[in-house]
Amino acid sequence: MTGGGLDESGRIPLVRPRVPSYQEWSPLFEDIWASRRLTNDGPVLRRFEAALQKELGWDNVAATSNGTMALQLACRALRLNGEVITSAFTFPATVQALRWNGLVPVLADVEARWLTLDPASVAALVTPRTCAILAVHTFGHPADVAGLQSIASRFGLALIYDAAPAVGVRIDGVPVTAFGDASAVSFHATKVMHTVEGGAVCTPHDDVAEAVRRLRNFGLGESDGADEYGTNAKMNELQAAVGLLLLQTLDMEVAGRAKAAAVYRDLLSDLPSVRFLWPADSVSSNHAYAVARLRAGTAPLADKVGRFLDRHGIDSRRYFSHRYRGRGTLCPNPTPVADAAAEDVLCLPLWGDIPLGALRRVAGLVAEAAA
Ligand SMILES: Cc1ncc(COP(=O)(O)O)c(C=O)c1O
Repeated sequence: MTGGGLDESGRIPLVRPRVPSYQEWSPLFEDIWASRRLTNDGPVLRRFEAALQKELGWDNVAATSNGTMALQLACRALRLNGEVITSAFTFPATVQALRWNGLVPVLADVEARWLTLDPASVAALVTPRTCAILAVHTFGHPADVAGLQSIASRFGLALIYDAAPAVGVRIDGVPVTAFGDASAVSFHATKVMHTVEGGAVCTPHDDVAEAVRRLRNFGLGESDGADEYGTNAKMNELQAAVGLLLLQTLDMEVAGRAKAAAVYRDLLSDLPSVRFLWPADSVSSNHAYAVARLRAGTAPLADKVGRFLDRHGIDSRRYFSHRYRGRGTLCPNPTPVADAAAEDVLCLPLWGDIPLGALRRVAGLVAEAAA
């Protein structure tokens, strides 16, 4: 990576994961190597899970091999059966986690402000077969936790959050993962806080945490028998070591991203065709993504601008233009807000120490393409 924010191929990447320095890394690495305890609920994993309790807001935290497994195991541990109402605008893993559990995903529309699940749209889809709501903190913007909890309580539904990109986000000072029956986070390398690959389930329910711990280890518990749905979703010691170190620099990463996001917003504020999703005042955001909505009048511009950036050596991503629309999903009502977002959202390069020059170059090209 050069001083201008270019990667080895001379492009500006979408994200550049923070990594611990060798000095920070080597003592932990040497301990792990010396102990020969490489995985299977090792001491570094235990330390990482303990450190996550404060960050995620619950005492029950179970780390997993990735965020997708965290979601799948959370749903399994809650013993869901039937239809689950979830977002029509999300990463495919949200819906696939339900399909892997034999559940029926029912897609509801999102709210225009932060593209998170719309409680009114959810309420309209509840049937006697509904067992849960799986809401997403899309791009790290908190879903309407109060509105969704009220529907879940009214109909006796479980409430799960796909909080994959939301580590470090707070609502009025409370971690966004401290709501509902369980939250699943991702520590993928593209996330604000990562373990290369990784994830975690946090929950207020002791039995759910206990079930996730069993399920991630082939369903093996204290007794002889194995749970038939067990799998291998363990986080190893090296992943946990990366997580322990990066947790210490999470605030710095977020502060850098906040500054960079504000630069984009200021540089492009005069353009009516560019609108950034911006956190509410009550939210302390992790600025996981620089989410621009690009439209000239009614015509979406995300595709055009994305191609223009690509030709100029800049990576961007049209999340979630490739949504899961496969077999086994129900979408009984129109989802116009989600459909519009799939057409006009473009995520721009963003990471904690992205150079100012890179931000200016990206913003200049966006302005040129979207003018
Ligand atoms: C909303 C959402 N859910 C789930 C996942 C899956 O997480 P992982 O890549 O750690 O499996 C992602 C990953 O990017 C995501 O953005």
